[in-house]
Amino acid sequence: MKFDILTLLPGFFDSALNLGVIGRAVKEGTLSVKTHDIREFTTDTHKTVDDAPYGGGAGMLMKPAPVAAALRSVLKEAESGKGSEEGLLNGACAPVVILLTPQGVPLTQKIVRGLAEKERLILLCGRYEGVDERIRPMVDMEISIGDYILTGGEAAALILLDSVGRLIPGVLGCSLSSERDSFSDGLLEGPQYTRPELFEESKVPDVLLSGDHAKISRWRRKESLRRTMERRPELLKGLKPDKEDRAILDELRAEGGFDDFVK
Ligand code: ADE
Repeated sequence: MKFDILTLLPGFFDSALNLGVIGRAVKEGTLSVKTHDIREFTTDTHKTVDDAPYGGGAGMLMKPAPVAAALRSVLKEAESGKGSEEGLLNGACAPVVILLTPQGVPLTQKIVRGLAEKERLILLCGRYEGVDERIRPMVDMEISIGDYILTGGEAAALILLDSVGRLIPGVLGCSLSSERDSFSDGLLEGPQYTRPELFEESKVPDVLLSGDHAKISRWRRKESLRRTMERRPELLKGLKPDKEDRAILDELRAEGGFDDFVK
């Protein structure tokens, strides 16, 4: 999968793209990530990328011309790649252009899964007070990583890249670990333990040491439902409980404290 990041701060991504799981995937070529410095697409001697908003107001906006030129350059390269051997091999389809902005749709695991199906994502990072409105028609999607304001879209782009990248086959060592994640089935993950068995007087639950896989799997499901009820009850509204889930939910209610979130 290919990512192109359009940014005024290409250096922002250096360590993140060289470290950990994503760094390894980039080195191995499972993920290809290119940063493009929007400043390189200015045409004036001062390489101006921002300007004051018409009508007045605080802060500066990103000028539309360098952003549009950067975007068109990447789109043109992607279009020309279609005819290449690589393009033919991976059945190149149109890249999806994403603007990272607090005004976008909130990023969820469902959106992440949808984006992981694409061949190529172009991530446009805003800085200052944002981009000129005339850039908006050039993007396919606007995404926010949460209801708070960052100094720019770079951190948001990294979060998107990380969450999508880890779903690409070959990026995580074990594909089961992404299937068992919090949110992959709409629930939070329950408690997990590793060695030692006894840590500061706190012991690993016996069931996890029992070797009884059916029992372990039921316990995990119950703890996942419990944690979701306790912390994010609204997530249970989307749950379609089977017979076993219903039995577990009854047990949790009987154990106390929860309203009837799921009938
Ligand atoms: N840029 C600034 N704040 C942002 C946010 N919350 N999400 C995405 N991009 C942003």
